[in-house]
Amino acid sequence: MFHKNIKKKSDIQYKKIDLLVFPLKIKELESFHTYFEVRNGLQSLYEQNKIIGFIPTMGALHEGHLSLVREAQKECDYVIVSIFVNPTQFNNTQDLALYPRQEAKDIALLESIGTDFVFIPTVEVIYPPNYQAPSIDLIGLDTVMEGEFRPGHFQGVVNVVSRLFDIVQPTIAYFGRKDFQQVSIIKHITKTLNQSVTIREIDTIRNQDGLALSSRNARLSEQELKDAVIISKVLKQGIQWARKFTPQEVLEYMVSEFNKSKLKLEYIQIVHPETLKEITHWVPGATACIASYCGDVRLIDNMELIPSN
Ligand code: PAJ
Repeated sequence: MFHKNIKKKSDIQYKKIDLLVFPLKIKELESFHTYFEVRNGLQSLYEQNKIIGFIPTMGALHEGHLSLVREAQKECDYVIVSIFVNPTQFNNTQDLALYPRQEAKDIALLESIGTDFVFIPTVEVIYPPNYQAPSIDLIGLDTVMEGEFRPGHFQGVVNVVSRLFDIVQPTIAYFGRKDFQQVSIIKHITKTLNQSVTIREIDTIRNQDGLALSSRNARLSEQELKDAVIISKVLKQGIQWARKFTPQEVLEYMVSEFNKSKLKLEYIQIVHPETLKEITHWVPGATACIASYCGDVRLIDNMELIPSN
């Protein structure tokens, strides 16, 4: 009844049929754990020039991650998701230790939306003893905002993403705009390394109160979940203020509004969408970025204040 090599459109019909017969499982999800499992598993797809969509994640999947999978399913023949909590991008050992892990639930979620493959490597698979991290000049994109408060974070992201791209060899890779600075850096490294992968940015998925979905939200109490709504509220106000005021004025209003809340502000910046440098005059795509602590949970978010061309 189920044929692995059928094209996406017919997959959808199979999903419907499968749903009637096996309500819990839309389609078989194939799991890979090593470099060779990925390469052998995808070999025939590379040979047939299939479009392979890739979504790197650290697991604890939520609707934000699933939206990336769904976007990939629209334009790719096959979709592969990786789940790997990358130790080299955590500069705080407690944050790494507390990072939520729920592999069985993640697998069930991916299976429920018809993902083709999941890659769940160990640290040794990603960073073998002979592993050499790529040396790429991040032209300062890594030292502002997140980079200033999380030194080394983006080098860790660059290492893991370039290694994952080497292993998976995707046609298109999908990243959330929620991690605005991360997408900028990934675009920069793929361009610098001349990698053939296309990078797609996908809009941030929010809960009904406007809070950006994040795996870290699982660590918030009910009250904190309500308190954290201030982040998106201030960003939305920023869009209104940007129509009337200068970037410096908007920044001041945002900071003063934010400081009325229970959250502890780490930074708010209004930056140029490509250089990530703070702006003094409005430019298309000008984006406000916030990092703050709600209790001991660090949350980030951003919104475009001026539409990009
Ligand atoms: P993680 O935080 O698991 O996020 C995986 C992908 O999901 C990222 O591209 C992120 O931007 C996207 N994402 C997270 N929350 C989202 C939301 N609310 N709406 C839309 N997309 C969302 O980002 C990482 O993992 C890691 O740094 C990684 C790239 C996997 C490297 O380790």
